[in-house]
Amino acid sequence: MSSYTTLTLEKKDQTALLTFNRPEVLNALNTTVATESLDALQSIQNDPDVRVLILTGAGRAFVAGADITEMQAKNAEQARIYSELGHRFMNTLQDLPQPVIAAINGFALGGGLEVALACDIRIASESAQFGLPETILGIIPGWGATQRTARLVGTAKTKEMIFTGRRIKAAEALSMGLVNQVVPNEELMDTVNEMAATMCRQGQTALRHAKTVINNGMDLNLDEALRLEIDTFVDLFDTDDRREGMQAFLEKRKPNFTG
Ligand code: COA
Repeated sequence: MSSYTTLTLEKKDQTALLTFNRPEVLNALNTTVATESLDALQSIQNDPDVRVLILTGAGRAFVAGADITEMQAKNAEQARIYSELGHRFMNTLQDLPQPVIAAINGFALGGGLEVALACDIRIASESAQFGLPETILGIIPGWGATQRTARLVGTAKTKEMIFTGRRIKAAEALSMGLVNQVVPNEELMDTVNEMAATMCRQGQTALRHAKTVINNGMDLNLDEALRLEIDTFVDLFDTDDRREGMQAFLEKRKPNFTG
């Protein structure tokens, strides 16, 4: 267990679980949460024993957005520092070498949805609710949602969410591609842990390279992105995991990946 004040970080069975832990304010994100989260992510990215990271929230929310009490007192200069801190947090999350699963157990609003969008996979409970309500506060999303939502579900749905600020239920989030899967509330963590366990069994070098190719390819044109795939595919042929994976298949046994 960790010594953070706004989150908990547990490592078990090659999986790290980061839980936002300010349930009294529905896990609203303030400067301390962002700073502690960045510290936690840095410890995870350098930990060879962690193969998958899961994010969730304590209580009835995943994260109900940026902390409005803290934001209310900021001037424009402080808002820039806050937004840049948030972007550092989101970029570190998106670029984490390990796969990241968001276990969305309740409200994922504003900054909460931005955190989920920077994860690789989003699994939601049936009672989860989503939204980008910033215009109701007279601002716009400031931690990446204008871009990451648009890249995930298109500009039309993104504009609808931001222009109306309306809350979206889990079934609608699934139908628009905002989340990968919706499960009954009581099955959320089992589903996510099972998916994490499956990822832990794969060749870790391959998995990390797959994440990099998919993420980086999105910023390239198709020709360049396909070239990146070829180069990465080729590089993996020189790894012990590739030799072991294919050998194990041919010998009809489970692979023993060493990474
Ligand atoms: N920042 C600061 N405090 C927040 C918060 C946020 N983003 N979201 C919730 N809280 C606090 C509430 O002020 C309340 O505190 P209190 O008990 O001292 O009054 C507590 O969390 C519980 O929230 P409450 O509003 O009473 O719960 P609810 O079930 O009636 O409504 C929400 C839940 C999520 C719909 C509502 O809290 C909300 O709209 N939150 C803000 C969402 C938002 O705009 N996020 C984007 C910010 S950019």
